[in-house]
Amino acid sequence: MSSFTISQALDMHLHLRDGDMLNLVGPLTSKTFSGALVMPNLVPPITTKDALLSYKQRIKEACKDDDFEPYVTLFFQNNYSYEFLEDIKDEIIAIKLYPAGITTNSETGVASMDVEVLRPTLESMSKLGIPLCIHGETNGFVMDREKEFMPIYESIASAFPDLKIIMEHITTKDAIELLDKYDNLYATVTLHHLLITLDDVAGGMLQPHLFCKPIAKRPEDRSALLNAALKAHPKLMFGSDSAPHPKHKKECCGCAAGVFTAPIALQVLTQLFNDNNCLENLNKFISLNAQKIYGIKPPKKDIKLIQKEFIVPSSYEYKNEQVVPMYAGETLTWSIEE
Ligand code: DOR
Ligand code: ZN
Repeated sequence: MSSFTISQALDMHLHLRDGDMLNLVGPLTSKTFSGALVMPNLVPPITTKDALLSYKQRIKEACKDDDFEPYVTLFFQNNYSYEFLEDIKDEIIAIKLYPAGITTNSETGVASMDVEVLRPTLESMSKLGIPLCIHGETNGFVMDREKEFMPIYESIASAFPDLKIIMEHITTKDAIELLDKYDNLYATVTLHHLLITLDDVAGGMLQPHLFCKPIAKRPEDRSALLNAALKAHPKLMFGSDSAPHPKHKKECCGCAAGVFTAPIALQVLTQLFNDNNCLENLNKFISLNAQKIYGIKPPKKDIKLIQKEFIVPSSYEYKNEQVVPMYAGETLTWSIEE
């Protein structure tokens, strides 16, 4: 096929940051996507209604030239009251739970993943129908962190059968298998975890722009993720986890975690689904599954992808900073029709 149309593209896991960075990266998503679930791990994280509404406003301002819906989230805290959640419910799409210290700006996440400790907030969320997004990693050995988290997903899924739980950015065969065990478990998967393994990150020269949390895993994990995405498993959604950091925080000693994929996501996904003869499933993976799972109706927007070379910019600039995308300087075989 030499062209393909993506309708109402949704990125169900996106980091838009704030300030100048937001003004740069916001439009790189809003130009082509109809909506995105925006992560709350700012400094400080989004934990109040005021902070939430003003962040949503700043996103809208940054993306004002485009028909784009930012679906904003709240940063999970153990002490949210039922009344607080009831009041904020219509403003948010979900609440994101981070184990404390597990990734970028998660220091004030939860100290314990014990269901009894989390029960008060989870019970309110379940009653109010607020979905729970989880960064599912323990602080065990880096390659086993997601696998070790599986029993925690199981304990929450069985304790709260009415709570929609989204396993964010899954990276393992174990997580794919768990998806079918509980009706209330769903997942997002990133573009980079469909493409790379740990070998691409650290098998040769260290590649800081491919370093992220959770770290890319084994070939058999990538195959399981790719198979599920290509067949558009109905409980799996695209969530880029595009996580921009300034170049000096990536190309340094103590590299920040995050792969910046927003500007290449649609082109590379089209290439990937086309190469695997699965283009007919791409609109489900990138939009329809999420619309059903979250019950959302994103703005109508059709984006035409054409089989034409696209050279990925070596970086995107703002103020005195640069942000380096995945595949910087490389040539893709699909591009977005202007
Ligand atoms: O690699 C990551 N970067 N993983 C996350 O979970 C957070 C993200 C970020 O915010 O930079
Ligand atoms: Zn993330």
